[in-house]
Amino acid sequence: MLKELYLPNPELAKEARIGSMEQYWYLQNSAKNDYEGFWGAFAQKKIDWFEPFDKVLDESNAPFVKWFDGGKLNVAYQCIDRHLDTRKNKAAIIFVGDRGEEIAVTYQELYRNVNKFANLLREDFGVKKGDRVVIYMPMILEAAYAILACARIGAVHSIVFGGFSAEALKDRILDAEAKVVITADGAYRKSKPYMLKPVVDKALEEGDTPVEKVLVVERNGEDVEWVGGRDYSYNELIAGKGITCEPEVMDSEDPLFLLYTSGSTGKPKGVQHNQAGYILWAQMTMEWVFDVKENDTYWCTADIGWITGHTYIIYGPLAMGATTVMFEGVITYPDAGRPWQIVESLSVNQFYTAPTAIRVLHKMGEDEPGKYDLSSLKVLGTVGEPIDPTAWKWYYEAVGGSKCAIVDTYWQTETGGHIVSPLPGATPIKPACATLPLPGIMAEILDPETGEKVEPGEGGYMCITRPWPSQIRNVWGDEARYVKSYFGDVKKDGKPVYFTGDGAVYDENGYITITGRTDDVINVSGHRMGTAEVEAAIKKHENVAAVAVVGKPHELKGEGIFAYVVLKSDEGVGDEIEEVRAINNIIKQEIGNIALCDDMIFVPDLPKTRSGKIMRRILRTLAKGEKVTQDTSTLEDPSIVETIEVMIGREC
Ligand code: WT7
Repeated sequence: MLKELYLPNPELAKEARIGSMEQYWYLQNSAKNDYEGFWGAFAQKKIDWFEPFDKVLDESNAPFVKWFDGGKLNVAYQCIDRHLDTRKNKAAIIFVGDRGEEIAVTYQELYRNVNKFANLLREDFGVKKGDRVVIYMPMILEAAYAILACARIGAVHSIVFGGFSAEALKDRILDAEAKVVITADGAYRKSKPYMLKPVVDKALEEGDTPVEKVLVVERNGEDVEWVGGRDYSYNELIAGKGITCEPEVMDSEDPLFLLYTSGSTGKPKGVQHNQAGYILWAQMTMEWVFDVKENDTYWCTADIGWITGHTYIIYGPLAMGATTVMFEGVITYPDAGRPWQIVESLSVNQFYTAPTAIRVLHKMGEDEPGKYDLSSLKVLGTVGEPIDPTAWKWYYEAVGGSKCAIVDTYWQTETGGHIVSPLPGATPIKPACATLPLPGIMAEILDPETGEKVEPGEGGYMCITRPWPSQIRNVWGDEARYVKSYFGDVKKDGKPVYFTGDGAVYDENGYITITGRTDDVINVSGHRMGTAEVEAAIKKHENVAAVAVVGKPHELKGEGIFAYVVLKSDEGVGDEIEEVRAINNIIKQEIGNIALCDDMIFVPDLPKTRSGKIMRRILRTLAKGEKVTQDTSTLEDPSIVETIEVMIGREC
């Protein structure tokens, strides 16, 4: 089926780090033949070690693994100091603000700003190696400094996306037992100020909090409340700080950061990433997948609150010494030409965004790319959810001028970096397909029953059968949950292997297409949302007796949130619109706007088995407006399916 493949642009291939499929297979086979030799050689070459490691991989306590044990390093040193000899006046970060300002920060300036920040945390706040620091910040330069300052002094950062509510922030602060919160008064969105500090105040307001100090960066200058002895102004404290700061000497397996993500059950999991393995793979995938060259400008539109922002705005690009664009604004503001105007003005060479953003930009500004000079672009990336062929084609043709490589990068918070992706100078690409595992990654689609690799066309579970350096090390404070969540479902040759939670299928070329989650996690605009979390929020409404939340295909968001709600009584409550509003308000308080329901329907009951299990598969079918073909005879009350069917039919 070679005809549906797009061969790599020969210009890209000529210069690429991996410039042919022969090279790809050579690397992948060398990893297969000598796994430790492969990783050990890259670790030695890519990381500036303070002290060399003794052992490449220690699996003796699997699935708890150690990579590069005995090695000493500092990730901030890897991202900054080691570049100063050759790149001190190169732009490390180009900040593009919501209101149009552009600030280029050189590696030398980054060094000074991070050191000052690190000194502040150490001297004024007493932050020590291993302490947890929550970062709740907008996309401003100080957020980048905060992240790297933590890495420099060995503090474990936990970034919480600025769209999360006070309640969600509080849960994460408590779970991480954070000593310090770094925030800003607020920032700007679409040229208007919005606030963050009041959310932090609320999160810390009741009960015992582990937080001793709050550092507030003044960004929009709006009035905020100040708690004496707890809140400190960054702008005041930073003024007198020294510009050198000894990096903490870290072990390869000391934690680097936590990032909370949704699972299929219960509260969000604190995904723990450690030092050496994470930074190694962040850097290697930056080099291989985006193939950024010394003089290139690279732009990833993610938010630092998600793993993409961690690995591919901050750690990966800086570890390799690249120039990374940090964008505060909204990509459709002031119009849907905004990203293309930035690409033209900064001569961006690699652009990385989510399918949702591509769909929105396509819909709102189909012809906008044509108005700008986008000839600098070489590689276009997508991440976070499956991309549909229509969006892919527009991205390839209208944005990429049919000459750029599209890298559909498949990975997760837990994988730290890319797992399956085309390589721009090597892999013939197929629309909407993540193609092949990256060299060194033993990703396979397995049959969950037999643990055997599935045949082309047969769906299976997306697994990774060997540990890899940037894999999740633990669910913070919950080893049992780590084992159960990732190593409980699939066994290969009798041994548990890492299961991603995604379904996937091979084509006849052995290419991998991700078909979506197999668990109760839904993917809204590339953001992972646990249905259990949304359900728990909705249940807080006093008149809700039962609820089930499922995903429903959504034209722009990929998936939307569909809630089936059973009310305790419909007496004494207002109309349904009121009820929907009240429930959505609770969701806003408990989680944040990103979890608001797209559809909500009040039903007399939920389809349950006799043992009380809610049949979500049926609810997913119903949400799509499709006829239920599943067997309903095991239901306690099969007639409920028809009732809901009629109700949904009536709504449409
Ligand atoms: C889930 C991970 C990866 C960083 C951003 C999201 C889905 C991710 C792709 C892709 C199809 C994808 C998977 C995965 N996903 N990339 N290229 N094609 N699906 O990180 O929040 O941890 O979500 O996003 O379902 O499990 P995350």
